[in-house]
Amino acid sequence: MRVPELQGEEIPMEEPERQYYFIEKCRGIVSKMSQELGRPVYYTVVTFGCQMNARDSEKLEGILEAVGYQKTEQEERADFVIYNTCTVRENANQRVYGRLGYLGKQKKKHPHMMIALCGCMMQESHVVEKLKKSYRFVDLIFGTHNIFRFAELLCQAMNSDRMVVDIWKDTDQIVEDLPVDRKYSFKSGVNIMFGCNNFCSYCIVPYVRGRERSRNPEDILKECRTLAADGVTEVMLLGQNVNSYGKNLNPPVTFASLLSQVEQIPGIKRIRFMTSHPKDLSDELIQVMSQSQKICSHLHLPLQSGSSRILKKMNRRYTKEQYLELVDRIRAAVPDISLTTDIIVGFPGETEEDFQETLDVVRKVRYDSAFTFIYSKRSGTPAAIMEDQVPPEVVKDRFDRLLQLVQEISRQMSSRFTGTVQEVLTEEINGQDPSLVTGRMSNNLLVHFPGDASMIGSYRKVRLDECKGFYYMGTLV
Ligand code: 5AD
Ligand code: SF4
Repeated sequence: MRVPELQGEEIPMEEPERQYYFIEKCRGIVSKMSQELGRPVYYTVVTFGCQMNARDSEKLEGILEAVGYQKTEQEERADFVIYNTCTVRENANQRVYGRLGYLGKQKKKHPHMMIALCGCMMQESHVVEKLKKSYRFVDLIFGTHNIFRFAELLCQAMNSDRMVVDIWKDTDQIVEDLPVDRKYSFKSGVNIMFGCNNFCSYCIVPYVRGRERSRNPEDILKECRTLAADGVTEVMLLGQNVNSYGKNLNPPVTFASLLSQVEQIPGIKRIRFMTSHPKDLSDELIQVMSQSQKICSHLHLPLQSGSSRILKKMNRRYTKEQYLELVDRIRAAVPDISLTTDIIVGFPGETEEDFQETLDVVRKVRYDSAFTFIYSKRSGTPAAIMEDQVPPEVVKDRFDRLLQLVQEISRQMSSRFTGTVQEVLTEEINGQDPSLVTGRMSNNLLVHFPGDASMIGSYRKVRLDECKGFYYMGTLV
């Protein structure tokens, strides 16, 4: 790699010092660029996929701000554009290629524009090969395991006229204390673990995010305390499977005990977490949730399928009956909790009977909302080579029927709070009507009510006047 101005200098070996060194280097380059252009230089981070990616993007933004770029929402105006990609379903990949094609045309008009790609999709070798071959204009490609090296890679890319590609197969490193630019001042995601060991047979995540690694509880608590001191009142603890948090730490720590410790941090008023795997959800966790003053009244509990036969083929390691029994236990301990889920339609071998089992669970559980997905074949996963892939028109028909049921129940469930007064965290000015603000209840439902910017970040008592399907219109009390 050609990095001329770094030759002969002592580069720190330790992290995060090494990255701070490269942040300084980039600062120099960015400031020169800005002088030459006679204006600030701009960046855009585009995020695809899940909450983990959203959190990673805040880290990318933290670095870009630290090196002197200014944020713009207008991609075509940006001097540096980075796509933080997702590959959980094929359509996420297609969206990236589509947008990238457009961005390539913009770059022809603005040749100094830099384009970078990172995230889950980059962990797939066929993707990187395609980019190298057909998207030559991309300047920098890196993956999920070395995102903490962004400053260093940015520096390399700035000093190179060739595409810089750095993908790691795996890592056991967790680098703390790099800059982060939070999207919201009052709420924040906090990674508690990385990777996944479950190997659900349809899922690519274990291949692109690597083996499960938990952060030390002390580091997590320190981060939460720092956030609280900075005005954050709501934290969302993030991991692919938070219920198996801490199993490999020495000594082991349970997720429930981590939650109890986060609960004790003054200043933190709300705690959320994502995502729970039903097979690892412990009674200890249910008990902690039932006694907590701060854990939100919401649990996202992915079902994936209601058929025990399909669940087995999916390697989910629970049956329909076990799932329903778990829901009963949760509802007995935390009455009125909002339950949400993920469901996949059209997994290989799914029959109409299997699909009816899924509808049966939806009717029995009555989810507050559900994300429904059409099965997407991910190469390298065991399900991709299973026989009996379901024909697209059959899948589409099932998908439509499922969506209809889910929405009908969701509407009924959401409206059950009509007329009550709820505590709401005011999050933003309403996009459509600036005389309204939008807030979120503990159960994750949104409510719009008259207000102004000064209320953002504050908790307010709001009467839920009218349910509009999946959100409420309300008034301050
Ligand atoms: N096809 C469709 N949906 C999938 N998900 C994960 N992998 C696939 C796939 N191959 C869904 C699951 C998961 C959510 C994040 O994405 O429902 O819970
Ligand atoms: Fe998140 Fe999985 Fe998509 Fe990666 S592949 S962004 S972990 S949903």
